[in-house]
Amino acid sequence: MTENNSVAPTVRLERLESGVCVLRLGAPEERVVTITPQRIQALVAVLKELRAQRPPGLIITGPSLEMFTAGAEISLIRDVRDPEIGKRLAREGQAAFDALADLPFPTLAAIGGPCVGGGCELALACTYRIISDAKTSLIGLPEVKLGILPGFGGTQRLPRLIGLPRALDVILAGKTLRPKQALKSGLVDAIVSPEQLLAKAEAVLVGREKLSAPRLTLQERFLTFTSFGRNLVRRNASAKISKETKGFYPAPSAALESCLFGLQAGITKGLENEASELGRLIVTPESKSLVRLFFLTEAAKGIGRSARRSVEHVHALVIGAGVMGAGIAGTLAKNDCAVILKDSAEPALQRGMDHIRKQLEKQRSLSEQERSFILNRIEATTRESINTGNVTIVIEAIVENMEVKRKVLAEIAALVPAEAIIATNTSSLSVSEIASTIPHPERVIGMHFFNPVEKMPLIEIIHGTQSSDRAIATVAALSAKLGKFPIVVSDVPGFLVNRILTPYLNEAAFMLNEGFSIDAIDKAALRFGMPMGPIRLLDEIGLDVAAHVLEIMVKGYGERMHGPNLLPKLVAAKRLGRKCGAGFYDFQGDNAVPHSGIRSLLNIQAPVKSADEKVIQDRLILSLLNEGVRCLDEGVAGAPGKDAAQQIDLGTVMGMGFPPFRGGLLHYAESLGAREVLARLKQLSTTAGARFQPCQGIVDRAERGIAFSAAVKG
Ligand code: NAI
Repeated sequence: MTENNSVAPTVRLERLESGVCVLRLGAPEERVVTITPQRIQALVAVLKELRAQRPPGLIITGPSLEMFTAGAEISLIRDVRDPEIGKRLAREGQAAFDALADLPFPTLAAIGGPCVGGGCELALACTYRIISDAKTSLIGLPEVKLGILPGFGGTQRLPRLIGLPRALDVILAGKTLRPKQALKSGLVDAIVSPEQLLAKAEAVLVGREKLSAPRLTLQERFLTFTSFGRNLVRRNASAKISKETKGFYPAPSAALESCLFGLQAGITKGLENEASELGRLIVTPESKSLVRLFFLTEAAKGIGRSARRSVEHVHALVIGAGVMGAGIAGTLAKNDCAVILKDSAEPALQRGMDHIRKQLEKQRSLSEQERSFILNRIEATTRESINTGNVTIVIEAIVENMEVKRKVLAEIAALVPAEAIIATNTSSLSVSEIASTIPHPERVIGMHFFNPVEKMPLIEIIHGTQSSDRAIATVAALSAKLGKFPIVVSDVPGFLVNRILTPYLNEAAFMLNEGFSIDAIDKAALRFGMPMGPIRLLDEIGLDVAAHVLEIMVKGYGERMHGPNLLPKLVAAKRLGRKCGAGFYDFQGDNAVPHSGIRSLLNIQAPVKSADEKVIQDRLILSLLNEGVRCLDEGVAGAPGKDAAQQIDLGTVMGMGFPPFRGGLLHYAESLGAREVLARLKQLSTTAGARFQPCQGIVDRAERGIAFSAAVKG
């Protein structure tokens, strides 16, 4: 192999003995390659040179076998404030990829590692695509997750390559595919081992090996290339989009229309329209919120960076195989951790293992063999004498009882190595108190998973008064390894998420008591963008559990956490929520209908109130916000100011489903401004109740005209 590094600093060109050229998209030390205007320029220059040289073929690949390209530089997307600039950036990328598609010799994208967004669009402009079966390899177009559409030709080339229905399946959901799925969908032409990637690519380009060209079925051709077929696809896709986005996210419909327009009007006009649409979307508040959240998740993943090494080989001991313990053990095993799952009761252990098996069966991307590997990583036991000699972390998920937790953890602490981290998944007890009777309490920490563990992306890391930095970093690194986002919070009742959520859930109960219907309250929350209404959420949590948490919150914070005491009445009537098929709602399978006798059951005397959606929304969201600002200024989630505001935004989106397009609780508050928030709270404190008295942090910010993300003290 000969090398010519003279061409450009951001792409490198090499020439193989066969004459085939290899264009590397970055320097070997670049761990993450992004597409920037500079790299696009460099690419254009190289392609121009190659066009003149006419080699037998061109391989485009990343700087290493673990990285192709992670897509457009997201800080650029964040900073664009003018649609024309967005359009221009898209046009520049499109022109470069057009030049690639137009080369008079075959080209091949040899993909190892991530090939997403702009990277995937670059690959789509090549004649062929092959992908390695490395664990990190994936390909797709996640742009809509950032509130934009693929703007470098993705909405034009993908439908032509794999047919409109399959292309929409990827583009509208912002999917990234693992190699096998990508091969099945036609997005790549072959899968090889990482070692064979370049050799195979070269063999294809010199004609020594052939790739079977993906063929569209007759039906796919009909649905892609006839206007009648496309109308059918449009109808289905539009219905799916409105169901999934509820009208809150503009990008998926824009992406759909961009694909359809290009197939109707031809690729040249299609590309121009795609670029205009990118310009329009890139400046929307939805996109700005989603991009900001992307950076918050990246920052969260970085909290445990210093301890990444220490979680390369995790031997976890999970105690308690109930709802949470089983979910935690399955998630650990799926992410390469060895797990001992211990429960004191054999039937509970069996139920826990059944749960794990069922969850794995649901994941269709896993092969039978992968499933059995994962299950084999779990040793399920009820024995007292277990080999704990190489345990690196204990995660306790037994009953929520201080004495029991203390006793069990003190016993376990004596058995595991002294440096093993001891984490508790308590949802309401003080971590410092749990730690106080354990030798070396600095290794004790809270690791609060949310239910269901498999789905919920947030982990609250609770630092007890004695928790060490090492314990925090290790648990943060483990959270990232599990694909979750950690936030570090103080050891206060309810921690962050349950503390903020309590006044919100209480407010729903207050409104019900005042005569608003369950339907009106829950629908108002849904129309604000919450994934489920607060009353339905209470049923999901379980009304006995919610009542218990409420008691703890009242004990911790007093009057302002008091609700109207509806829950005990339902608990007494054995209506515990979804788990027993009856709560505020009556459940039948997936169907939930507000219980028709709820008013008499709860003895609600107030006349039925007609719904004023805006008022209901304000009462719910400002309840969250009033408590959220208290947490902000008390430093419950990081140092007061910008850092805490960001953690609260991430926590509210990932832990309670605050609408991502609103960017999190405080980002939303920022859009109203402190003065407006203060005015609305004052109004509510006279019309709805003294609990709406604004907290001092809101008053101060309104008076001084400063942002929520600014620290008020100092
Ligand atoms: P669960 O009742 O479903 O499971 C607890 C399990 O622990 C049972 O299988 C029980 O047999 C076992 N167990 C009890 N004592 C034990 C001992 N000494 N040794 C070994 N196993 C023992 O409870 P769940 O819901 O899983 O909660 C567990 C913990 O997680 C609690 O602290 C809870 O507050 C917390 N949590 C619960 C959430 C939820 O939504 N369920 C959410 C977040 C935290």
